[in-house]
Amino acid sequence: MGKNVLVISTSPRTGSNSELLANEFARGAKDAGGEVEIISLKDKDIKFCRGCFACQKTKRCVIRDDADLIEQKMEKADVLVFATPIYYYEMSGQMKTMLDRGNPLFTTDYAFRDVYFIAAAAEDEEYVWQRAKSGLEGWIECFPKARLAGCVFCGGVTEAKEVLGNTAMDKAYEMGKNL
Ligand SMILES: Cc1cc2nc3c(=O)[nH]c(=O)nc-3n(C[C@H](O)[C@H](O)[C@H](O)COP(=O)(O)O)c2cc1C
Repeated sequence: MGKNVLVISTSPRTGSNSELLANEFARGAKDAGGEVEIISLKDKDIKFCRGCFACQKTKRCVIRDDADLIEQKMEKADVLVFATPIYYYEMSGQMKTMLDRGNPLFTTDYAFRDVYFIAAAAEDEEYVWQRAKSGLEGWIECFPKARLAGCVFCGGVTEAKEVLGNTAMDKAYEMGKNL
């Protein structure tokens, strides 16, 4: 049976570059026989973690919003893919908030092993996305059975859809295909 892949796209923008890359990853993963679900955080109701730690006893967040539902999907997925625009040399606030709201996972027998990272930015330098990658690595460190399995970064894209035709799209597809 194919892997159960959950793609979380965190850009709020229509025609998002990071989302287009994530879609290519998803297409590759589907071609490889994966069961793929893509969730965009755009228009989702996602509140900040309250830091109450109730989830560490109950395995579920006390806040009933979309992040609560997404966190439950994260628990069951074999593969997690996070796609983000680079905002001020970091991951988007939406992505960070979703990672924080994944706190109930800490106490569960989560299924995910491979985590992938996809990012897009206006500047095309290695350092532009390193903090964002490092932030995700910090989250993954809290889940010892998981690892950062691959990254796709596309720099030099400012306007929506600029990523179309970029070789990073091929890289994203191939990465999904080779899950
Ligand atoms: C608030 C904000 C901060 C940004 N900060 C950076 C940055 O630090 N470095 C950079 O190269 N691009 C930066 N950008 C540009 C975006 O990363 C770029 O437009 C990217 O293509 C957006 O991805 P998306 O289409 O998936 O939303 C910023 C854009 C916004 C709106």
